Amino acid sequence: MSLTPPSAFPPGFAWGVATSALQVEGAAAEDGRGESTWDRFAATPGRVKGGDRPTVACDHYHRFPEDVALMAALGVDAYRFSLSWPRLFPTGGEARPLVAGLDFYDRLVDALLAAGITPWATLHHWDLPQPLQDAGGWPARSTVDAFLRLAEAATRRLGDRVRHWLTVNEPWVVAHLGYGAGVHAPGLTDPRAALAAAHHLLLAHGRAVPLVRAQVPGARVGIVLNATDVEPASPSAADAAAARLGDGHLLRWFADPLYGRGYPDDVCADLRERGLLPAGAPPWLRPGDLDDIATPTDLLGVNYYMRGVARSDRVPEADNLPRTVPLPPPDRCTDLGWEIHPPGLTRLLLRLHRDYAPRSLVVTENGAAYGEGPDGTGRVRDSRRVAYLREHLAACAEALAQGVPLHGYFHWSLLDNFEWAEGFSARFGLVHVDFETGQRRPKDSFHAYRRWIAAHRR
Ligand code: FCB
Repeated sequence: MSLTPPSAFPPGFAWGVATSALQVEGAAAEDGRGESTWDRFAATPGRVKGGDRPTVACDHYHRFPEDVALMAALGVDAYRFSLSWPRLFPTGGEARPLVAGLDFYDRLVDALLAAGITPWATLHHWDLPQPLQDAGGWPARSTVDAFLRLAEAATRRLGDRVRHWLTVNEPWVVAHLGYGAGVHAPGLTDPRAALAAAHHLLLAHGRAVPLVRAQVPGARVGIVLNATDVEPASPSAADAAAARLGDGHLLRWFADPLYGRGYPDDVCADLRERGLLPAGAPPWLRPGDLDDIATPTDLLGVNYYMRGVARSDRVPEADNLPRTVPLPPPDRCTDLGWEIHPPGLTRLLLRLHRDYAPRSLVVTENGAAYGEGPDGTGRVRDSRRVAYLREHLAACAEALAQGVPLHGYFHWSLLDNFEWAEGFSARFGLVHVDFETGQRRPKDSFHAYRRWIAAHRR
């Protein structure tokens, strides 16, 4: 079935699947849950494809026992989910969390543990309470304090059973797509605000780490970065510089301060040149912040989907060397047009290990959008996802063979779900969801992953 032997993965390697609260839970107005920036964004015409809204989504809030049973059938060791911030703090400003919200995660965690599945909780996977946004959102420093109240409440209640905590999911996406490009909630287009948001997300992470440790015996805590291996489109010096700078904005801007190096000089210089950073210290940077951000962690989560290719816009196209990295043919792209490039995952893991030496690396997300639905017999033949999965698992094995301390792989996602600005049109699940009825149907990829886990678990 697979050319990758079980011995390619270390004993105790965590085989998992991932989701996030806003994308699967639904029950948007139940048990006192407040409005999140994504509820507001999706309710605004023209923001989310098809006008889709996450109000019901997969109805995981009510159907979680069925979803836990699916995970048990899949045979995963671990489930990465996130806590809905407005379910715990409807306005973000309350002194105490909503008991009903905590009770939900309590039941979920107990159901997972009863099924032998280790819970991995993400504290912030993008669903900021709207009132916190109205008070400034992530560009405002006060949001860091609100986040610490969330971290405190969640770990106090669940820390006796949940050891694995991920602070923030993909700060680059939150900051730059939400506050810079405006294509994610809250839909603002202010690149300076995006930089302030990025800093506060990192600060929120760093300050949460000791707080999680204080409440969770044996805690394993880290952050999740979206990353890709940015390659130059040609061997020209201009493309090499573009690739270096692209990587600087996407990855080094986050990883450098997390690993004690501060913000990278070349990216600062680029931002100054573009008038986005002042000549002196940026207004959002206060003494002590960089020390807090660099608080040591136990693991680094990496979300990898595709390769990045950089072409310089600083030289005229006619003066640049011809591209040597060809544009991918359609059959090497997913339905979202993302290039399928498994060697990029190996290279990324090797590079993170070499440059930052995190104690442990975990692929916290990897997956593909493919639209296959049930055939006449109800079977979902998603052979393209099966191939994607297999190729990326082989890429993980390759990184392990080259010495990367990789300790887990979480497929995105267990279920088809609300794919942010793409709405329900982009399906990433191992399990097909009929969004009219809520019916779940394991796809061929579910069975392929089940067989893989059974063959490779040690
Ligand atoms: C990542 C997000 C995740 C999901 C995948 C496809 O950026 O963390 O929630 O939407 O992309």
